[in-house]
Amino acid sequence: MKIIAFHNLKGGVGKTAAASNVAALAAEEGIPTLLWDLDPQGAVSWYFGNTGASARVPKAGRLVKGKTPIGKTIVPTGIENLDLIPADVSFRNIDLQLEKHGDNRTLADWLEPLGEDYGLVVLDCPPSLSRLAEQVFRVSDRVLVPLVPTWLSLNSWHQMQEFIADKKLDSGRFQPFWTMADRRKNLHRQLLQSPPQELTGLMPGYIPYASDVERMGEKRQPVHWFAPRSTAALSYRLLWRGLTKGKRSLKL
Ligand SMILES: Nc1ncnc2c1ncn2[C@@H]1O[C@H](COP(=O)(O)OP(=O)(O)OP(=O)(O)O)[C@@H](O)[C@H]1O
Ligand SMILES: [Mg+2]
Repeated sequence: MKIIAFHNLKGGVGKTAAASNVAALAAEEGIPTLLWDLDPQGAVSWYFGNTGASARVPKAGRLVKGKTPIGKTIVPTGIENLDLIPADVSFRNIDLQLEKHGDNRTLADWLEPLGEDYGLVVLDCPPSLSRLAEQVFRVSDRVLVPLVPTWLSLNSWHQMQEFIADKKLDSGRFQPFWTMADRRKNLHRQLLQSPPQELTGLMPGYIPYASDVERMGEKRQPVHWFAPRSTAALSYRLLWRGLTKGKRSLKL
């Protein structure tokens, strides 16, 4: 089982949109995929959690204490091969819980039993460099970091690099990709054409700024379902292909 996380310290940069589309594309390739909404805002749960299926909601405190088996929190999404662990507001306090109860039951322990049922777990993370983020970084095979092509976004990449170095994490697992790119803007074009050297592992291509992505909120479906020929659908396919093909590809 492989684990991919979508993370950025910055909010509203397209983590959830990318996590949702990539997970749906993986499922369509026949990979049993689990999408875990770790963000109490619950955007992934909004996109895909409308099937009426109910499970035990994963309360942060109970998970941390090992009282809720993770399998009991999984629901189907209605997309073949794609299941979901919905968000819960208690995840706002998960860092407090992790601090209080120690790190003896970690995200890695929660995920471990899922290896029998899933080939891929996709983690949609809240925008913070928290204790939970550190656990996500340790357990993930890849951490994909959406960056809007602006100088300020590069600042969040630098902050992440400092965090990675401070926690002695393997920086090779982190891969940025351009998102919400608007080719009408000079700076966006300039950064897409000549990416700064410090963006090591930059994924090929970019996710364009596209209203089709915003429409996911209305359709509650991955982009390629309702706009299969759109540039947004194509760009998520390229992102997925970049993860699974080529020299640094994940073996799934
Ligand atoms: N490529 C895009 N083009 C246009 N709009 C986008 C794009 N990607 C995301 N959006 C929109 O921007 C908003 C934020 O996107 P998303 O929720 O994916 O970001 P996020 O990084 O997960 O945010 P948060 O940090 O709050 O979790 C949403 O309304 C979404 O529809
Ligand atoms: Mg999000």
